[in-house]
Amino acid sequence: MSTTILDKVLIAAAFAAVAGVAQATEQVEQPAAVAVCATCHGEKGVSAAPIFPNLAGQHRNYIEHALQAYKSGARKNPIMAAQVAGLSDADIKQLAAWFSQQPPALYTLDPEAKTLQKE
Ligand code: HEC
Repeated sequence: MSTTILDKVLIAAAFAAVAGVAQATEQVEQPAAVAVCATCHGEKGVSAAPIFPNLAGQHRNYIEHALQAYKSGARKNPIMAAQVAGLSDADIKQLAAWFSQQPPALYTLDPEAKTLQKE
């Protein structure tokens, strides 16, 4: 089997994903702007209502990309456009880092049952 360009892209993506996990282990302080996000997404990224996506445990790069997309208008949502309008690139990076480090809410691994349990 020969190595195609697609194989190389997939290998590069795998390394990028591993690098992302390593980045996420540097614990960050809670940014002040979280107080605003908390109204809808919850202080630790577990949302108050199903219409607001959970941010806890989402990939850091994904959150950063989503926030930049709302800011540029590439991703259109009037609520989020207003939220990100005043955020700098540094604010966005901090928020993405912080929310990515919060424990996700939907499922936890129960070591006794060895199955995924809904909380
Ligand atoms: C008034 C409620 C509200 C506030 C405040 C708010 N958001 Fe949102 N957020 C939403 C809604 C609604 C969506 C879903 C929008 C969509 O469908 O694109 C969303 C989507 C997102 C997404 C995309 C999630 C995904 O899974 O794609 C991110 C990231 C996000 N918000 C981060 C933030 C951050 C960071 C803040 C604080 C600076 C914030 N939000 C403040 C309501 C809010």
